[in-house]
Amino acid sequence: MLIRDETAGDITAISRLVTEAFLTLAQSTGTEASIVEKLRADGALTLSLVAEEEGEVIGYLAASSARIGTQDGWGLIGPIAVLPSRHRQGVGTALMAEALRRLRATSRGATLVGDPAYYGRFGFRAFPGLSVAGCPPEVVQALPFDGNEPRGEVIHHPAFGLSQHE
Ligand SMILES: CC(C)(COP(=O)(O)OP(=O)(O)OC[C@H]1O[C@@H](n2cnc3c(N)ncnc32)[C@H](O)[C@@H]1OP(=O)(O)O)[C@@H](O)C(=O)NCCC(=O)NCCS
Repeated sequence: MLIRDETAGDITAISRLVTEAFLTLAQSTGTEASIVEKLRADGALTLSLVAEEEGEVIGYLAASSARIGTQDGWGLIGPIAVLPSRHRQGVGTALMAEALRRLRATSRGATLVGDPAYYGRFGFRAFPGLSVAGCPPEVVQALPFDGNEPRGEVIHHPAFGLSQHE
């Protein structure tokens, strides 16, 4: 399996894969592929990684810039998606490892909204006061690279369509 940056030729496969993967998730909004498309159109994808095997795109991870409270310099990971037929074979782990390796060089930390049962294994956790409007606090998680505790609202790209206070 190869983890690499997206190319123009991957774009259709990425949208299809993200749509298909999120169909398996009860809390899916059905808008995840369009989030990626909007981030791309706005030049806001700081990472757009694909997992490729035998020429097929089997996994995808996006990251964009975010602020936490008054602190710039956070990398927001998501969406992350793996082809359902390839779940639980380490594809998501490989994408996350590469994303964190790259973000460590450019960001003060990573943040995301998702299931703590999955993201805890990568070192993500909730912090007091860390929030995204409308999300339960336990699903809003961060992994600071410098050990400092993130505090405040995660201010993210409007493509996510979540409410925020600015
Ligand atoms: C979540 C997702 C990206 C994980 O990708 P994956 O390639 O299946 O994950 P991995 O094989 O790397 O899994 C690593 C570990 O996490 C576990 N795991 C996978 N999905 C999990 C989940 N939803 N909840 C809890 N644990 C999970 C695996 O069992 C594995 O554990 P093990 O090493 O002890 O066996 C993939 O299941 C997916 O595309 N789901 C639909 C979209 C989605 O939920 N995206 C995230 C939204 S926040």
